[in-house]
Amino acid sequence: MATNRTFTMIKPDAVANNHIGPILAKINEAQFRIVALKYTQLSRETIGQFYAVHKERSFYGELVDYMSSGPIVAVILEKDNAVADFRKLIGATDPAKAEPGTIRALFAKSIAANAIHGSDSDENAKIEGNFFFSMLERF
Ligand code: RTP
Ligand code: MG
Repeated sequence: MATNRTFTMIKPDAVANNHIGPILAKINEAQFRIVALKYTQLSRETIGQFYAVHKERSFYGELVDYMSSGPIVAVILEKDNAVADFRKLIGATDPAKAEPGTIRALFAKSIAANAIHGSDSDENAKIEGNFFFSMLERF
């Protein structure tokens, strides 16, 4: 069933380059409401579980090393059509191919250091949000 929530992480490159504020501003301008937000750094083991769906992909080791290399910001967002609209707002995985004005076009350096994550389905948005915010039923 469709929901109106998605999950995002501001990745280590964007945090290290002081892009948390500008990225949250873009998210707010695009009419997403913040439901939950956490600044944290994850171990290889924990982020490995988060990305378990990519375990067989060639870039999995690199992805896990990278995503555990520094702090990230995990956020649950709410808006009509949240998952699809957010994927549009962040742009293509490879920032070189991302539409001008998208978050990855503006802030990402490379495919690996691509500034931001966005859930790819309602089902995964729920799983990923629950992964970071187990007490969300309080909201
Ligand atoms: P995300 O999950 O982070 O929103 O990104 P995505 O859907 O656009 O891309 P996905 O295929 O889910 O890949 C997850 C993340 O893995 C890194 N990646 N590296 N070196 C590579 O070829 C490669 N391909 C993907 C990226 O950081 C991507 O966001
Ligand atoms: Mg993905």
